[in-house]
This record gives sequence, C-alpha cells and structure tokens, in this order.
Amino acid sequence: MLVTGGAGFIGANFVHLVEKQWPDCEVTVIDKLTYAGNRANLAGCRAKFVEGDITDTALVDSLVKDTDVIVHFAAESHNDNSLHDPSPFITTNIMGTFVLLEAARKHSVYLHHVSTDEVFGDLEIGAPTKFTESTAYAPSSPYSASKASSDHLVRAWARSFGLQVTVSNCSNNYGPYQHIEKFIPRQITNILSGRTPKLYGTGEQVRDWIHVEDHNLAVLEILARGRFGETYNIGADQKDINNREVIELICELMDIPGQYELVADRPGHDQRYAMDASKLRKELGWRPRYTDLRAGLIDTIAWYRENTAWWQDAKEKVESTYAAQGQ
Ligand code: NAD
Ligand code: DAU
Repeated sequence: MLVTGGAGFIGANFVHLVEKQWPDCEVTVIDKLTYAGNRANLAGCRAKFVEGDITDTALVDSLVKDTDVIVHFAAESHNDNSLHDPSPFITTNIMGTFVLLEAARKHSVYLHHVSTDEVFGDLEIGAPTKFTESTAYAPSSPYSASKASSDHLVRAWARSFGLQVTVSNCSNNYGPYQHIEKFIPRQITNILSGRTPKLYGTGEQVRDWIHVEDHNLAVLEILARGRFGETYNIGADQKDINNREVIELICELMDIPGQYELVADRPGHDQRYAMDASKLRKELGWRPRYTDLRAGLIDTIAWYRENTAWWQDAKEKVESTYAAQGQ
C-alpha cells in the first residue's frame, strides 16, 4: 500500500491503524514534509518512509510500480491558508492528484481518493438538509475548489480509462496529531499555553465533527469492500453543533468557562456542513465508535496535554500568523 501524505494528521493516524488492523500489509509513505507533515507522527510504525513530492512524476512512478493500492491523503488542507496563497493548493491538490492518476493508469493500480464534504459548498443554518453523494458540487474556497477539481479528475480517469478508483468525502475530523492551526487543537493549545481561545465572527457556523479514527475505519471498509467507481460520504451523524458551542465546551472541559475572544471572521466562511453517510452504513455496515463529541474532546485534550513537546515549537509562529490576519 502506498499512502500519500502519511506524515500528516489523518494519514499518520491511518498508517498506525493499518499496521494494527492489517499487520501483513506492507506500507510505504510518501510525504513532502511541509509545515503540516511531521515524521514524529509515524513513531513506532514499520512503514517505509519516502520524503518526496507527489508532483514528482519519476518518483511517483517508481513507487506506484511496486504497489497494489494507493490511498491518497496528501494535500494542502487549510482553508485560511488558501485564502492567503492559493498557489500550493493548485499544485499539490490538482497537479499532484493528476500525477498519481497517470502513474496508477500506467501500472493499473487501484487508487482511493480521500476528499472532503466542502466540495458540496455549504448548507443553510437550521435547515434539515444534508449532503448526499449526489449533491451538486459548489465549492467556496480555493482549498475546496482544488479538492473538487481533484475529485473530478479521479472520476474522469475511472470513466475514460477504466481506472479502479473509490472516493470518500468526509466531514471535519478531530483527534491526535492534528495541526494546531485547525480549530479544535488551536483552542486546546491556546488554553494550555495561557492564550485566550479565538472564535471567528460570532461562531454560528456548524461543522459535522467526526473522530479521525472513525474516518479511517471507514476508509478501511471502503478499501476492503467498496465498489470500484463509487463515492462514499463519511460522517458521524452529529446533531448540529456550532463553533460557539464547541469552543464553550472546550473552555468548560479545560476549566475556563466562557473565556474566549471573538476575532475577525473568515472571508467567504461556509455556514453549515452536514453529511448523510447512510450509503456507507447500509452498504458496508460502518458505524462510528465515537458518538459523543464531549467524550472525544476529553480524549483529545488529554493527548495535547500529554504531548506538549509535539506542538509547542510551532505555537508561536502559528499564532503570530493568525495575529497578523486579525484572527
Ligand atoms: P494535513 O495538512 O494534516 O496533512 C497533509 C499531509 O500532506 C502533510 O503531511 C504534508 O506534508 C503532505 N503533503 C502536502 N503537500 C504534499 C506534496 N506535494 N507531496 C507529498 N506530500 C504532501 O491534512 P489532513 O487534515 O491530514 O488531511 C488529509 C486529507 O484528508 C486531505 O486530502 C484533506 O483534504 C482530507 N480531509 C481532511 C479533513 C479534515 O477535517 N482535516 C476532512 C475531510 C477530508
Ligand atoms: O469539512 C472538512 C474540512 O474540515 C477539511 O476538508 C479541511 O481540510 C479541514 O481543515 C476542515 O475545514 P474547516 O475550515 O471547517 O476547519 P477549521 O478547523 O479551519 O475550522 C473549523 C471552524 O472553526 C470553521 O467554521 C472556522 C472556525 N474557526 C477556525 C479557527 C482556526 C474559528 O472559529 N477559530 C479558529 O481559530
């Protein structure tokens, strides 16, 4: 198995999980080690690690030639960054996926593409609607537009060239090893480092939180039993919870109730995401293990508390970048 982006948040959790669940599977990771990648995330893993760029055609070809399946996580993943410099999003998310698809086509290798619910745009706050696999694409940010583009490429390679592919679109993940630029770990590490948690706008936006382990267990089910050419939505059926409620929950769990600050909103901010994952549940029998966000957050807070050395060097830089943006 070739795992792209395996030193990032979800990819690293995935490699740990594969090695536990499928001990006979030989894993190779390709990762560029951008600011978001960290070799320490793979500590204790047996996987072979190749530091490299998925846009490097010769390197990708040499790795794909010897693999049975590609699980494609590598991406520029942060919306706020894409608003300040979209360029690496276009290069990695679109061109990188193209390079992988061409190598997969040449060597007839199955590719699973890890994508996001953001390709569908956003939903109205308070509406009962959810995204299904057939919701029309309407991405809002450079990040989500680049992911939507990559999804289209993957489907085109399946239809035009008969490439064996599956696609998954998942909602917002949280859990260990998530970069501290993202909402939940940013607030936890703000509190742990004596800073005030920061809420964009007034925090009305709704995200459909899922624990990273549940996302990756769903990917394993798709790899094992998913149908080629199919897309599967992944989401844990959270009841709608907005960012204000999440930050208040984190503050409560970390004993500083109500102590957070409102900062500049994100331009073009998507209002609400909600996933209908019934196809995955019905066809593959997947069920989330973390059904209670409070319990998942308690575990996640404990992980960041116990792993200060993992995040504290990056904290100052992340916060000064946000401060310069009024966030
Ligand atoms: P992340 O930013 O934590 O990790 C991305 C990894 O990709 C890093 O290790 C980075 O070094 C690597 N990478 C970046 N550019 C590369 C390149 N050109 N070549 C090789 N490696 C490169 O991201 P994440 O949150 O773990 O997301 C992983 C995937 O899951 C992405 O495709 C993302 O779109 C998707 N996704 C994320 C979420 C979420 O909530 N985080 C939800 C749904 C889908
Ligand atoms: O929905 C899936 C997507 O989830 C993935 O495709 C992306 O890779 C991932 O980054 C995530 O995107 P979001 O933009 O939803 O996640 P983020 O953690 O950046 O922000 C979550 C919400 O919290 C969003 O409404 C913005 C808000 N926010 C974020 C930060 C960093 C704050 O209020 N304060 C903050 O400090």
